[in-house]
Amino acid sequence: MGTPYGEIGVVNAMNNDMKNKMRQKVKTLFNYWHNITLPSNYNVVSLPGESFDFETHVADRAGKKNQNENLLLWMYENDSKLHNKFKKTVEKHGKDSGHTFLYLRENVPPISSFKVLPTFAWYDFCGNPTKQRFNCLYNKDVNKNTVAVVTYNTRTRLHKHLHPMVMPHLGGNYVEKANCEVLTNRLPYVLFSHNYKQKKHGIPMVMTALTNSKQLANVYNKNSKRFSSIEDNNLLLPKISLKKTGKGKRAGKVINNIKNIYMDILLGSEDDKIMEQHKITKNQLSGYKRTITHKRKVNKLKEFVIGLSK
Ligand SMILES: C[S@@+](CC[C@H](N)C(=O)[O-])C[C@H]1O[C@@H](n2cnc3c(N)ncnc32)[C@H](O)[C@@H]1O
Repeated sequence: MGTPYGEIGVVNAMNNDMKNKMRQKVKTLFNYWHNITLPSNYNVVSLPGESFDFETHVADRAGKKNQNENLLLWMYENDSKLHNKFKKTVEKHGKDSGHTFLYLRENVPPISSFKVLPTFAWYDFCGNPTKQRFNCLYNKDVNKNTVAVVTYNTRTRLHKHLHPMVMPHLGGNYVEKANCEVLTNRLPYVLFSHNYKQKKHGIPMVMTALTNSKQLANVYNKNSKRFSSIEDNNLLLPKISLKKTGKGKRAGKVINNIKNIYMDILLGSEDDKIMEQHKITKNQLSGYKRTITHKRKVNKLKEFVIGLSK
């Protein structure tokens, strides 16, 4: 593949049709986010593996419309061999590009590490949703203009290693359910969610894109079909459709608020802060706490928390 990044683009072990389509989907979403957010200083976070196609796209686009743009491109690779293979070339192209390229040999940090700036992050793990991987997004503070795309392998065997909010006993697409229903606690809009395989008999994956930007969600969901060759799973959360009508808008708000109250209690926030933030009385707070205690007692807390997002 001829890219300004020469060898990086050419050494591409993942250059198969399906992966290309998925990457294209992420690049298109990045364009939307970039056009709508119009960021001056911003983070893009990625796991390039052996393909720098997405990263090349981002770097090429940065600063084209607005010369004052300042892109911080954070690329992570925890495999030393791969990191050594690409390090020099990436550093060189970083210098030439005029942007800040960071290619780091370490575990990608949680998305909260980037919260001071608008952030587009692609956590292309392709591994199981383990505690460490799922916690990169789950319950994390984010900048108000954030997109997170996450890719997990859905063939999970050693269930004890999974994040506790990823629940095989729910059956069906439980990894996708966890993405669309649990990870939405801080990034409430699902932009797309696709199940795919890189090869015909390959490992099944799910890629889900989430945001907290209502504006982006509205624009993207209106137009996405025109720009994509991949069928959407139509996994828009009910919350989004509720917001379309006046009545639904209020209902959506109330549901969201109750969910946030429960989450704050579960996260151990102080009573005073919860009452002040959600404008509820001490009695009401006690009621919410009683529900949690009861659900915990009857071993139904996880299902209850998941149900809040539905
Ligand atoms: C699926 S590949 C990325 C593919 C690439 N985004 C593309 O478009 O083809 C994932 C890469 O991230 C690395 N990786 C996986 N988990 C990681 C983590 N927690 N921190 C840093 N690197 C990780 C893997 O070694 C692998 O090289």
